[in-house]
Amino acid sequence: MDCIRDMIVGLDTPVKLQNGTMIPAINLDNAATTPAFKKVVKEIDKQLLYYGSIGRGKGQKSAHSTKVYAAGRDIVKAFVNASEAYTVIYTNSTTDGMNKLASALIQSDQDIVLSTRMEHHANDLPWRERAQVVYAEVDAQGRLIIEDIERLLEVYQGAIKYVTVTAASNVTGYVNDVHAIAKLAHAYGAKIIVDGAQIVAHRAFSMQGDTPEENIDFFVFSAHKMYSPFGGGAIIGLTDVLNTHLPQFYGGGMVQAVCDDDVIYLPAPDNYEAGSPNYPGVVGMLEAMDILKNIGFQLIEAHEQRLLARTLAGLKQFPDVILYGDTKNISDRVGLITFNIEGFNPETVADFLASHYAIAVRQAAFCAHPYVRRLTGETNTSPCKAPTGMVRISFGIYNDEADVDCFLKAIETLISNTCLRKQMEHRMSAPLWLGMPHDRG
Ligand code: ALA
Repeated sequence: MDCIRDMIVGLDTPVKLQNGTMIPAINLDNAATTPAFKKVVKEIDKQLLYYGSIGRGKGQKSAHSTKVYAAGRDIVKAFVNASEAYTVIYTNSTTDGMNKLASALIQSDQDIVLSTRMEHHANDLPWRERAQVVYAEVDAQGRLIIEDIERLLEVYQGAIKYVTVTAASNVTGYVNDVHAIAKLAHAYGAKIIVDGAQIVAHRAFSMQGDTPEENIDFFVFSAHKMYSPFGGGAIIGLTDVLNTHLPQFYGGGMVQAVCDDDVIYLPAPDNYEAGSPNYPGVVGMLEAMDILKNIGFQLIEAHEQRLLARTLAGLKQFPDVILYGDTKNISDRVGLITFNIEGFNPETVADFLASHYAIAVRQAAFCAHPYVRRLTGETNTSPCKAPTGMVRISFGIYNDEADVDCFLKAIETLISNTCLRKQMEHRMSAPLWLGMPHDRG
């Protein structure tokens, strides 16, 4: 993966340690967002030379941008193996896509949606705020219980309209068998929506299953988790369903005509893309897809599995480290690990890694509070409070064994730092310690 490191922007950029030393950062927070591919930046720069309004105006640059923008929908379709039955809608992110989709698909607050306790808030709250949501549970290791999905579909006897589930968890990295879930959903007359945020840069994804019943109806993802952090993302959805709905997001570019008392909307994708689009975001995303395909998902998966195994083996050497999820059978996990260290607040661990080693990780509850609570055993509180959570490291394709070894060394140093541990114990007795003002959760 040496040459892949050369493909990424900013890996050598020094950052300041607590002692004032400047060293390049090690980014182990790729599940949150990824640095850019150099070729993505180059392609955006190139296309900006010919940038003009999309779908509006007759200028040459406008015609060029409109063509690139429209042709990109086929690139997205090819990336996720979507047939002619689907339409690609450009969005700004997974959150944007899920909110748009929920606002379109939910017809009444009595509609029933089946979600899971593994979801990121972006695939929970947009439904929770608009419909009745029932949740399938996870097991003791945090894997989704597929039988619970089936049980709920059976209990509700065809009343569940949508099943919405993540393709891969941002907390444990578990990859769900969404095609098997699609088959179940379809057998009970529901459509399936898949949150693809944590899969698109890690595993090949196909809208098509082995049989038509296993096909995915809607897939939503962000470009900033696939080395194009310029906004951008997409909903890939069944055209006929999209066309019977309209998102609650209105403006120019989505209509055929507006009269004093009437509006005629365009069909999808235009009626889902009001306003001037984020063209650099789209250009970057298309280029990133091309690069990822060329690198190859088999290689990416094998590389992540190696890093995962090495890190887990290293962390298991420390009796004070608590690991979450299945750490023996890891083939259904993308490259991320969550853990805690006895006696340390996750915030302290993340602070220490950054300030002493320039290692970036994420801490707290990763916008997946119900799932994190289930893993750590923290209970719901009244009034509702964010869980203390855990620490997460997540790999990108450019991370290597040296990054892992540096991280393990840092953890070893932290664990043996009796001074810091004492301070933590002292702080733990103070009620204010529980607050986590820096994490957006
Ligand atoms: N959803 C992103 C994460 O898991 C931000 O960190």
